[in-house]
Amino acid sequence: MGTHFTPLLLLSLIHLLSGISAHEFLLPGTSLSVEDSSDTLNSPNGAFTCGFNNISHNAFVFSIWYTSTAEKTVVWSANHLHPVYSWGSEVILDTDGRLAVKDYNGQPVWENHVNSSSSAEQAQLLDTGNLIVKGQGDIILWQSFDSPTDTLLPNQNITAATKLVSANRLLVRGNYSFRFDDEHLLTLFHDRKDISFIYWPDPNTNIWAKQRNSFQTTTIGVFDSWGHFLGSDNLTFNATDWGLGVMRRLTLDYDGNLRLYSLHKPNGRWSVTWMAFLRTCSVRGLCGMNGICVYTPRPACACAPGHEIIDQSERSKGCRPKFNLSCDGQEIKFVKLPSTDFRGFDQSKYTVVSLRTCKKMCLEDCNCKGFFYWNGDGSCYPKSFLGGGVTSPQLTGSIYIKLPKALQVSRSSIPHSQPYGPKYVPKCGAKNNNFTVDFLDKPKSSQSGPKYLYFYGFLSVIFCVEVIFVALGYWFILRREGKQLTGVWPAEIGYEMITNHFRRYTYAELQNATRKFKDQIGRGASGFVYKGVLKDKRAVAVKRLADINQGEEEFQHELSVIGRIYHMNLVRVWGFCTDGPHRILVLEYVENGSLDKTLFSSKGSHILLEWNKRFKIALGVAKGLSYLHHECLEWVIHCDLKPENILLDEKLEPKITDFGLAKLLNRGGSNKSVSRIHGTRGYLAPEWVSSAPITAKVDVYSFGVVLLELLKGARVSGASDADEDVEMVLGRVIRMLAENLMLDGGEQLWIADFIDSRLDRKFDEVQARTMVKLAVSCVEEDSRKRPTMENVVQMLLSVDEASGIVQQYSTS
Ligand SMILES: *[C@@H]1O[C@H](CO)[C@@H](O)[C@H](O)[C@H]1NC(C)=O
Ligand SMILES: *[C@@H]1O[C@H](CO)[C@@H](O)[C@H](O)[C@H]1NC(C)=O
Ligand SMILES: *[C@@H]1O[C@H](CO)[C@@H](O)[C@H](O)[C@H]1NC(C)=O
Ligand SMILES: *[C@@H]1O[C@H](CO)[C@@H](O)[C@H](O)[C@H]1NC(C)=O
Ligand SMILES: *[C@@H]1O[C@H](CO)[C@@H](O)[C@H](O)[C@H]1NC(C)=O
Ligand SMILES: *[C@@H]1O[C@H](CO)[C@@H](O)[C@H](O)[C@H]1NC(C)=O
Ligand SMILES: *[C@@H]1O[C@H](CO)[C@@H](O)[C@H](O)[C@H]1NC(C)=O
Ligand SMILES: *[C@@H]1O[C@H](CO)[C@@H](O)[C@H](O)[C@H]1NC(C)=O
Repeated sequence: MGTHFTPLLLLSLIHLLSGISAHEFLLPGTSLSVEDSSDTLNSPNGAFTCGFNNISHNAFVFSIWYTSTAEKTVVWSANHLHPVYSWGSEVILDTDGRLAVKDYNGQPVWENHVNSSSSAEQAQLLDTGNLIVKGQGDIILWQSFDSPTDTLLPNQNITAATKLVSANRLLVRGNYSFRFDDEHLLTLFHDRKDISFIYWPDPNTNIWAKQRNSFQTTTIGVFDSWGHFLGSDNLTFNATDWGLGVMRRLTLDYDGNLRLYSLHKPNGRWSVTWMAFLRTCSVRGLCGMNGICVYTPRPACACAPGHEIIDQSERSKGCRPKFNLSCDGQEIKFVKLPSTDFRGFDQSKYTVVSLRTCKKMCLEDCNCKGFFYWNGDGSCYPKSFLGGGVTSPQLTGSIYIKLPKALQVSRSSIPHSQPYGPKYVPKCGAKNNNFTVDFLDKPKSSQSGPKYLYFYGFLSVIFCVEVIFVALGYWFILRREGKQLTGVWPAEIGYEMITNHFRRYTYAELQNATRKFKDQIGRGASGFVYKGVLKDKRAVAVKRLADINQGEEEFQHELSVIGRIYHMNLVRVWGFCTDGPHRILVLEYVENGSLDKTLFSSKGSHILLEWNKRFKIALGVAKGLSYLHHECLEWVIHCDLKPENILLDEKLEPKITDFGLAKLLNRGGSNKSVSRIHGTRGYLAPEWVSSAPITAKVDVYSFGVVLLELLKGARVSGASDADEDVEMVLGRVIRMLAENLMLDGGEQLWIADFIDSRLDRKFDEVQARTMVKLAVSCVEEDSRKRPTMENVVQMLLSVDEASGIVQQYSTS
């Protein structure tokens, strides 16, 4: 301890003297930056850290987390609806107490709400994990405890104005919330688009059975540091390790269960010390439509017989039927699922009817998907949808689902729960809970493998917090329906949505727009491109990506970044579609197609690119790349620049396409050196093949090749008829050009010989010479010797006629 003391004191002294303290306080006018991961606020006891937390490679959220847990555990986050870039973003404290998270372009994406009657003194993170903005005289202008996300910390209260909303590892909001209901009871809700269902406490029990007090005048829930929770409605619970000195959190998990966790300090892992549901299957909507929650004995999702899983990674999407039911005399059968119910969606309720009558009623009703029947009291509930399914030995009564007679249903596809005992307590703290498929009827031999798995109904463990794959799409849905949803939760009205056209499209919408993918306008390594017209009459190019191995939410993260890139020399990304297996981009439609078609077509091309057009194209492409590399985000390396990826608009201005895709397209096999390569031969920088690091300079190399092709009007690699290596051809051309460039002054005829003969020697010699020079330096073997795209733009601008500097050069 002593050894640490002096430097610490010295450090704080320096901070005090210099007026900045990046570690304990944030003073008005100062900020925390996203780039420096040590630029954080720490609580004095070291338990909590507050700063930018990356939820993907490039997306950061201003959050508070535990400093030392095995897995980063975020307890609060500000801009989870709008993550910011990994570069240039910051959170800044204003003199009036406003704390604002700003994106790389200065756009505020989140702001706290303060009563700015007093000026702010500082922001600081307290030992409790509460981030506060203090005004003069120690008054609290704002505190994070007033706007919880999915977690309540000891000493943090839940009030009528606050609620917990489930969120996953990537801070994407789920559909469950914990808040006061209109009877002033603390309640768990399953929030659907415009309706909320209560699932805890059990809505079918009366207030006495709930042991709660409704309509209390105060609405508060107090969670103390002993691990005891007491609500104004008499909701009471107590951690099993009740006592002081334990770090705890009460979290509404993504699976809809409310759990109290305690931290085991030596290994930094969490264990559950209380939870709302011992039986997780009681959480509403866990397995989605046509899905059934079963205990194996762990809770798991299965599909109803005759149905198949929609999205393995997102179980709440449920299952789809593998059959079509028509009402015109198709032969129907009912399949019995014992001890099963689909909660809700009752068309009506009958009592004291026979099973036969119940069957008949459902058979005659085209909308009836099945019914629940209990012969104990002859109750019959025809169902319009099969949602909220659960199978449990405790359940009396059965579900009969309606299926075509021809459909084969094996006995083993009928879910049945294993008995579960009171001893079953999940270890949610342990990270190694994986998604092992726990089978109902395990096949004797494992040889039938995954097919079997699909055939007999998908089933897998969904328990615990490690619900890893989630649709980030919810975020986009939120963005689209921002008004509706922000209205639901007053604590969220600070969020400013960036309004642009970027959005998610459904597969059906794109099918419509492209007339079922009729009009193919291109094909590339990344996929096929179709022309389409959106409902709002915008012409778009729709690109179906092949080979996307990325998970849905990773894909959407990357796209959310790509979607915000806007530059006139870059093709605009309007949106995307990730329905089921589809991975589709919706792009701006560019009239004149790709550069290779115009530039290389030999016989009677409809357009001959004149010199000044070629120069403009070179400049435009350079500007686009420069924007990607420098002005926009450092990480966007194109990796596959070539004439095919340069589109020309109606004025023959270039627009680069396919940027940002390198990350999405994960080509190649297990061989590391192969899977690293993204580009196209002839345009590939040598470092792709060597083990040198891949930097933005690979694009500079490809740009050099494109520049030569613009001059030459032909592919450089097509220069030789012999099957010479493309790299060798390029090398030879470059050596020739480099030698010629050395011929100072004097004969410059070689330039005219090199340039496209179709131009009839109509070109600007200064510009041409500069472009050759640039091209030669761009394809340097050593990436460090290549210029940056910014240098390239400057060089080209210096000889741009429009800029007027050209005279100065041509006279010298
Ligand atoms: C956050 O960044 C670190 C280091 O760059 C990286 O290892 C980690 O995978 C990132 N986290 C996510 C969720 O992408
Ligand atoms: C802010 O001021 C308004 C009106 O002056 C008051 O009603 C409200 O309670 C204040 N909010 C806080 C957080 O102090
Ligand atoms: C929570 O409520 C308790 C009891 O009403 C109160 O003493 C305490 O100050 C509250 N805590 C916060 C952070 O508001
Ligand atoms: C939330 O509910 C909406 C429908 O209201 C659904 O589309 C979405 O998939 C649900 N999200 C999750 C994570 O369950
Ligand atoms: C309050 O809760 C406790 C424990 O849950 C219970 O014993 C008590 O009867 C409840 N009081 C009322 C008025 O419901
Ligand atoms: C919580 O549980 C402990 C031990 O089980 C008990 O001693 C304590 O009184 C309980 N606290 C409350 C507030 O009920
Ligand atoms: C159901 O009908 C639709 C259109 O009528 C068809 O596209 C689909 O393939 C059918 N599904 C099955 C499982 O037969
Ligand atoms: C998943 O769990 C199974 C059984 O519990 C275990 O055999 C397997 O090694 C685990 N896999 C991982 C990646 O932890």
